[in-house]
Amino acid sequence: MSFKRYLITSALPYANGPIHIGHLAGVYVPSDIYARYLRLRKKDVVWVCGSDEHGVPITLKARKEGITPQNVVDKYHKINKKSFENFGISFDIYSRTSNKIHHETASDIFKTINEKGGFIEKITAQYYDEKAKQFLADRYIKGTCPHCAYEEAYGDQCEKCGTSLSSLELINPKSAISGSAPTLRETKHWFLPLDKHEPFLREWILEQNKHWKSNVYGQCKSWLDAGLQPRAVSRDLSWGVPVPVENAEGKVLYVWFDAPIGYISATKELTPDWEKYWKDKETRMIHFIGKDNIVFHCIIFPSILNAEGSFILPENVPANEFLNLEGDKISTSKNWAVWLHEYLEDFEGKQDVLRYVLTSNAPETKDNDFMWKDFQARNNNELVAVLGNFVNRTMVLTNKYFGGIVPEISATTEYDKKTLDEMPIIRGKVEKSIENFRFREALKEAMNLARLGNKYLADSEPWKLFKTNPQRVKTIMNISLQITTNLSLIIEPFLPFTAEKLRNMLQISAIDWEKIGLDNLLKVGHQIKKPELLFEKIEDKTVAEQVAKLEIAKKARLADNAKVTPAKENICFDDFAKLDIRTGTILEAKKVPKTKKLLELKVDTGIDTRTVVSGIAEFYKPAEIVGKQVSIVINLAPKKLKGIESQGMVLMAETPDGRLEFIRPTTKINNGLEIK
Ligand code: 2FM
Ligand code: ZN
Repeated sequence: MSFKRYLITSALPYANGPIHIGHLAGVYVPSDIYARYLRLRKKDVVWVCGSDEHGVPITLKARKEGITPQNVVDKYHKINKKSFENFGISFDIYSRTSNKIHHETASDIFKTINEKGGFIEKITAQYYDEKAKQFLADRYIKGTCPHCAYEEAYGDQCEKCGTSLSSLELINPKSAISGSAPTLRETKHWFLPLDKHEPFLREWILEQNKHWKSNVYGQCKSWLDAGLQPRAVSRDLSWGVPVPVENAEGKVLYVWFDAPIGYISATKELTPDWEKYWKDKETRMIHFIGKDNIVFHCIIFPSILNAEGSFILPENVPANEFLNLEGDKISTSKNWAVWLHEYLEDFEGKQDVLRYVLTSNAPETKDNDFMWKDFQARNNNELVAVLGNFVNRTMVLTNKYFGGIVPEISATTEYDKKTLDEMPIIRGKVEKSIENFRFREALKEAMNLARLGNKYLADSEPWKLFKTNPQRVKTIMNISLQITTNLSLIIEPFLPFTAEKLRNMLQISAIDWEKIGLDNLLKVGHQIKKPELLFEKIEDKTVAEQVAKLEIAKKARLADNAKVTPAKENICFDDFAKLDIRTGTILEAKKVPKTKKLLELKVDTGIDTRTVVSGIAEFYKPAEIVGKQVSIVINLAPKKLKGIESQGMVLMAETPDGRLEFIRPTTKINNGLEIK
């Protein structure tokens, strides 16, 4: 299918912290490659992004720092906009959702759906903090995840197992403001009946979008197979887009209702022609996102658009997996990240090196790791030794032999022709890979052009021929210069700063993508400049410093963890006596399928044998714990975890580095003895 125009959207990052390499690798570098490529092909393309400035994490941060939410978003919007510019992320607009145009657009869409009867209004019970006198939406409430038993799960999502939650599902809910146990109060909200949109989503995704990446398609299918429920699109908060109907004081639109509409408002802000990008079926809309955003872009936003009725839907959603850092999950709160602004302080002018490494190692099909050693190796062995080396040799020899003037080409050999014929083939491969969102493969192919050039020079050995056969050397250098010029074009989407530097050295201006493959892009007699190095070697010491920086962050984190948590409030003896803790023995253990953390245990409690689901699979193999004695709470109300009824809790101590250790008798004693 061919399209008249392209609309590219990249996930709007929350304006509550700086941008790190995970953001760049997962969303912004791939979308930049795609947008630059389309522009080079002279396509009609609009690429929108901006700051996501609503949502509870922002108000929580403001509360913690004693400033207003507007102060928080003003600060990070500015920092992040600058970071993107510094890394050549070439959005057509980087807007923000606190803008007036966005509030109006989101309100209008809500009103249209409301007028069409597209929402259900419901009075529901919501958690309320009596001390803070406020409803506790989303991250204002924390508790134990009913799926993986993680104790710090939020009211909207468990960050450990990734499950999306409703606050009422949390076990032992606590207010994130005061830490107190919340009460339930009634409040009115607007719900989008996702169940009503299910038939449309099934047909659109499962039948018409079979070409989506398997991770995206698979996630959508499992949501649809589980059955969709109405979802609240309003919240009791003071920060956000006010619900635009009467008698809705103190209520705002849910951040995930308004944020994707940010793509529409940014396009409106960019061009009066915005409707042709959003309402004409001949537009190809592509959402670039990380995997945690799939449900919002493939299920919820399309349902909003479907309910409104006049907008197009995305043609593809090439979501990436996650990038880890040196083996650990990137985490803003744990300071486990490489921040873009810090990278630039340490690696001034080396934006393309990071773009290169993040693309070569992009988490396109699975989670990947960023390792500083790999960063160094890719720089030294690929950018310096392959691309930089070829360009430098070509420029140096042309200057040395011909005063920097492009020499004429005369009789060409079969090998010359074969080499030149490779260029359009490489171009075709790069195009195919980019168009299928396989950017690592595309970059590898583009680098093959530099490999081709290196091989050509090494095989032709002009330095051995200059004295005896200068005519042949002219041909070799002309061909090498044509390859160099082609390279300056083909690397542009991936390495825009290097492409510009190279064009400057060649003294040429931008050339259309369609010309890649031609063998006469640089005319005979054209003067090139003296070469500068495109890339420099990165020394062991430099990467060791970066690793050391991370070690400091890790130590600080461990020291922080090692601080003993403060004592809880006193309880009376009767409260303690209510707990029935016994000695027991693990009889059987097996992994709970499709979970990373859970083991299903059979425990002999001395009274009976019961099933306990325990979140210890990361630390213990089933075989190593069978036969071990444990302490087990036997009078907790049973709870279903992943469909298995857990009938007790095995006691564990959490160590500073997050391991769980069994609390158990030091000598073998009977099962069923009371622990008191
Ligand atoms: O996950 C996030 O960082 C969200 N702020 C992404 C929003 S994408 C879009 F819908 F705005
Ligand atoms: Zn969980």
